[in-house]
Amino acid sequence: MNFKNFLILNIILAILISCGQSSSVNIEGEYSSFTPGEIWEDNQGVHINAHGGGILYHEGVYYWFGEHKGERSNSAFVGVTCYSSTDLYNWKNEGVALTVSDDEESPIVRGSVIERPKVIYNAKTDKFVMYFHLELKGRGYEAAHVAVAVSDNVAGPYQLVKNGRVNAGKWPLNMTDEQRNYTVESAHFDKWWTPQWMEALKDGLFVRRDFEEGQMSRDMTLFVDDDNKAYHIYSSEENLTLHIAELTDDYLGYTGDYVRVEPGGHNEAPAIFKKDERYFMITSGCTGWDPNAARLLTADNIMGPWTLHSNPALGEDAELTFHSQSTFIIPVQGKEDAFIFMADRWRPKNPIDGRYVWLPILFEDGLPVLKWFDEWDLSIFD
Ligand code: DGJ
Repeated sequence: MNFKNFLILNIILAILISCGQSSSVNIEGEYSSFTPGEIWEDNQGVHINAHGGGILYHEGVYYWFGEHKGERSNSAFVGVTCYSSTDLYNWKNEGVALTVSDDEESPIVRGSVIERPKVIYNAKTDKFVMYFHLELKGRGYEAAHVAVAVSDNVAGPYQLVKNGRVNAGKWPLNMTDEQRNYTVESAHFDKWWTPQWMEALKDGLFVRRDFEEGQMSRDMTLFVDDDNKAYHIYSSEENLTLHIAELTDDYLGYTGDYVRVEPGGHNEAPAIFKKDERYFMITSGCTGWDPNAARLLTADNIMGPWTLHSNPALGEDAELTFHSQSTFIIPVQGKEDAFIFMADRWRPKNPIDGRYVWLPILFEDGLPVLKWFDEWDLSIFD
């Protein structure tokens, strides 16, 4: 081959290689940016399988825990997966952190529903503590349980410690004596959603109904504050009201202190962060696997009162949160006031193909805003 042909061949090869690569991948084949909504491969070249996830930063490494999804069902047939990264772009598959059981008596038997796992580290006990939303096999979404699992190692294996409803026999701190003693019951209403029913709901209809058994807990996250106190934030009362419940020092149980947030507000998918002593929470509405408009709430104290603001998403498709639903907000280490909004673009007909929408949290007039980027990197925070 003469030099001219050699040169042409090389140019063609270079074009072919660059066409086969995503622009977010650098010459070493590593990601150097985020491309929300696109396939995101792990270190083995497989689309990351960690949906409804959350991130724990521990000793210089980010760990991403999420729901393993299969091709046809949203039920758990594998468990909770774990990936690790030092740069947030490139993720190593660390395997299954919590494995479903083959024992039909186990609450986490294969075929149960395991959603939105989050892991926190307890320095006092030197244990990693995982909370997730658990629905018992064959019972749809009626159980509304939270489950707690523990491990000595960050990537697992995690062992299930307990599961159930939350704060049985305890009243929310922000429910008045009058509300606690109302005699109105669910059975008094033929229909849901009437103005009278909504008033009763706001006054604690379902809190009273579930008082003995414990409060329902579905979509959830965990938050560890600067003083190391941890909180479980979850959709309760038939997904109509968020609760924030303080955890015990070992993070394995509840102190009994909890509050209701936005009664009747229908908030799911809570994700929270703290900046300048202020708490910010982004949630979604409640439309199954379909996306809807995000909501923003702020508070000066994690136990409230919380103030509702308008949709933090701006621009085209903002009313559908860019076709995604919040799951977690990542504080970026080593950068000031840098937070990533982490969301899922669900694909309920082929759940394994669910996509991840990670966007930078920007601030306008002191409030977080979300804007779409086809591609972005962490230098946006500089
Ligand atoms: C919306 C929730 O956010 C998801 O985690 C999941 O529970 C679906 N609903 C189920 O329809």
